[in-house]
Amino acid sequence: MSRLIIVSNRVALPTDNKPASGGLAVGLLGALEQSGGLWFGWSGDIVSGSRAASGPLVQHRNGVTYATVGLSRRDYDQYYKGFSNAMLWPTFHYRIDLARFDRKEYAGYRRVNNLLAQQLIPLLEPDDVIWVHDYHLLPFADALRAAGIRNRIGFFLHIPFPAPQVLTTIPPHEDLVKAMCAYDLLGFQTHSDLTAFRDYIEREAGGSVAPDGTAKAYGQVVRGGVYRIGIFPDDVAAQASRPENRKPVLELKQGLAGRKLIMSVDRLDYSKGLVERFRAFERLMEMSQSRQGDVSFVQIAPPTRSDVHTYQQIRERLEYEAGRINGRFSSLNYAPIHYLNRGFDHRMLMSLFRASDVGFVTPLRDGMNLVAKEYVAAQDPADPGVLVLSCFAGAASELSGALIVNPHDIDGMAEALDHALSMSLPQRQARQRENLAALHRYNLGAWRDDFLTDLYACPIVAVDATDSAVPQASASALA
Ligand code: F6P
Repeated sequence: MSRLIIVSNRVALPTDNKPASGGLAVGLLGALEQSGGLWFGWSGDIVSGSRAASGPLVQHRNGVTYATVGLSRRDYDQYYKGFSNAMLWPTFHYRIDLARFDRKEYAGYRRVNNLLAQQLIPLLEPDDVIWVHDYHLLPFADALRAAGIRNRIGFFLHIPFPAPQVLTTIPPHEDLVKAMCAYDLLGFQTHSDLTAFRDYIEREAGGSVAPDGTAKAYGQVVRGGVYRIGIFPDDVAAQASRPENRKPVLELKQGLAGRKLIMSVDRLDYSKGLVERFRAFERLMEMSQSRQGDVSFVQIAPPTRSDVHTYQQIRERLEYEAGRINGRFSSLNYAPIHYLNRGFDHRMLMSLFRASDVGFVTPLRDGMNLVAKEYVAAQDPADPGVLVLSCFAGAASELSGALIVNPHDIDGMAEALDHALSMSLPQRQARQRENLAALHRYNLGAWRDDFLTDLYACPIVAVDATDSAVPQASASALA
């Protein structure tokens, strides 16, 4: 069996006290353990320019090999903070109002992709299969191909892929999509993401999409598919009912003094719709006097990317909103919103989900949103909470038992909260069964195995007489 090489911007290196946690890491590590291979990417450290260029640090942990590199300050600023998170992230989440383009940052983005590719190449063997993750690395295969690498290379986009009208606001959009076509297989979270990519190929790139979904553009052939990322629901259920967490959960329940609990957990990101969510909770209080003092809302939002200006802005805004709403509705022994800017142990979060009455997950746009899936898996089947979920999260297409809301409709969200809080036990159980069945139908293992099966089935790239790389099986079609 070919070795598997996983490439991602950040590498979650387990330590002795902190084993790999989080579904994705566990799912990918499972694949690496089966096939051998390594996980390559940024260590998360900013280092001197000479150290950044000195080659990857290779380490073995729990039977898996990790190869990590540091980034110089300039590379971090241009590639990660700049083009990835100040241009691609907002645009791919349909926030072109927050996007900021800078040519130097784009040059840095391409340069770092090349640099990372050069650092990976000495570690590669001819038969390796390479699986690249996320928007930081759109041109990674292009960089490998330019250096003569002919291995199978697949890419999975964890975030949405925008419609051509939005994508084309990125000045070098054509360069980016052309580079994406150097992959053998592109994986998207939802059909609308895949459709957006194909629309671009046909309408902007002048390419074509065959009935089997294969896209041809810029003299290249690329397959595309939908692979809905999932979780391992039984593992989450086990975490949620850990006896170790009983004490903190009891303490929380005591503090609530019989009040209902609405819970949300997100990275502190403007794409998560937190301002609208706070306002919907406020509207719930306004709508019904009886809800005042009767329900608490816990929003956990650990800060990320805090050196990016738009993230500083959203943080200030949320502090203002939480303070304003609490000022309006608090009493001496009750504060409606508990807004916590820190991370919690994943297992503890799952127990908190289980103890809550409503999971409130309302991103303005999200690739999939695994928090929604975890909320469902963490519930007690005998007395489950209700998921209120944004129609703009990829998970909405699977979790038909959720109350689906439009996060721009504050009244609609408040009504859904009210409905969720007063739903009967049989209704909650029926919705829970429906959602849980969806999680079991397509779990994280199925996502990973489907993607890898399709990637292994891609024809190996051959080099023709004119030295342009073409997949062997499709060479005649292109000629
Ligand atoms: O969901 C997109 C993503 O970039 C993930 O790949 C990553 O784990 C997460 O957001 C956190 O982002 P960052 O690495 O920028 O903190």
